[in-house]
Amino acid sequence: MAMPFSDVSAFRRNPLHLLLNRAANHPLGFVPLHLGLRPMWLVTDPKLARSVLKWPTAQVDKGRLVQTITPLVGKSLLTNVGNAHATSKNAMHRHVHRSGVIPNIDRMVAIIVQFVARLTVAGSVDTTQELPELAFQLACVVVFGHDAITAADRTLLVQAVRTVEAEVADSIFRLPFVPRLPWDARKHTDRLSYARFVIDTVVKRVRSSEKRSGVIRGLEDAGLSDEDISAEVLGLLIAGHHTTGATMGWLLYHLSVDPEIAEMIGIEADQAMQKLEENDVTALKQAPLSEAYISEILRLYPAGWWTSREVFEPIEIKGQKFRVGDMFMVSPWQMHRDHRLWAQPSEFKLEREFSGEAYMPFGVGPRACIGMSIAWFELQLFTLLVAGSLRFRGSLQSIPAPVPSITLLYPGDVFEVRPRMPSSRLKMTG
Ligand code: HEM
Repeated sequence: MAMPFSDVSAFRRNPLHLLLNRAANHPLGFVPLHLGLRPMWLVTDPKLARSVLKWPTAQVDKGRLVQTITPLVGKSLLTNVGNAHATSKNAMHRHVHRSGVIPNIDRMVAIIVQFVARLTVAGSVDTTQELPELAFQLACVVVFGHDAITAADRTLLVQAVRTVEAEVADSIFRLPFVPRLPWDARKHTDRLSYARFVIDTVVKRVRSSEKRSGVIRGLEDAGLSDEDISAEVLGLLIAGHHTTGATMGWLLYHLSVDPEIAEMIGIEADQAMQKLEENDVTALKQAPLSEAYISEILRLYPAGWWTSREVFEPIEIKGQKFRVGDMFMVSPWQMHRDHRLWAQPSEFKLEREFSGEAYMPFGVGPRACIGMSIAWFELQLFTLLVAGSLRFRGSLQSIPAPVPSITLLYPGDVFEVRPRMPSSRLKMTG
């Protein structure tokens, strides 16, 4: 019989491998992972996973993990449960949904076009550095509003958000029961306080601007305190920054190794371009190849690679009883690569169906990704504009292994960049 904590070292060594391996050796259902005193149930059956994620939040919701990170990131959509969670989700939902994002498309296009122009001149792109920054800049358009934040404030904010992210990663992945030495703890507290001070200051400045976004106005109208509005902004930037940034890395990687697909998407981009220049977003719906391309990238490398839930009241699912304090894990990474659910799951294939129950890159249920529309617009505009204008060559010899951090990261590479052709599409500017 497996002992409590017996999976901890394997999980720390290579969690992606442990999840795939453990799932493959059990029938689809609830699979035990021994990461604590009691098992955590990895839910490998898509139907059951959807049940867990859609279960009423009074009985099953985010639990212990949230308590760990709340002191670091504050109370927001990411960390709140119950009514507080519903209040912020309702306040923001409309503004981050498709119709709320569409008015920002021209600005997003301009930012990506500037990025493409910069790469054309530079002749290379460092994915670790430049893609998260691009994703951050794009997310800021929706979170803060058109030109509501200065470039200087955005630079300050990037550093501050990264500091908080590093603290969150450290607290999630540090060994249990290993306390910090007092001077080390002090260093972490100081770093975090400074980062939170910077974030509060920048958010305050943006809030005094007439150009502030619908998202911020929505939070103000819902009566949130200054502290909570600042935490919501931080939560959106944390959740919406490395996720899309890492996905862009994989998008570039597969364009670099498959010139034929790159050219087919380039042709789709040529057709979409005129409409996009006129801010007509129907062009995106008429670009099915780029949609399938992004869907397959999100299947193979889902940036939100796992989530957990805790049982708050005794429940029974498919005849199995769960006690208060039991934990579930749902991993899109594992589910998207299960050979019982997908044909040749490790292969990149554009002709797949992405509407099945086993596909959940943005989560499911009341805690599903609120930034999904923002992410989709960012990723599709990025794919089309980049594939329409540029070609890439990477230095990695084989398919790089994803890096499991808070999000599933692209390991990083410097791609050589050359223009696809003298590009008339670079005429669009901010
Ligand atoms: C490729 C891009 C992205 C992926 C794959 C992704 C994936 C996910 C997933 C799987 C969840 C659900 C986690 C759970 O069930 O516990 C989630 C939640 C969330 N995402 Fe995203 N996300 C992406 C981009 C974004 C963006 C751009 C934003 C905002 C600007 C964002 C904001 C959030 C927030 C605030 C939550 C928490 C929602 C809640 O707890 O109610 N995400 N995301």
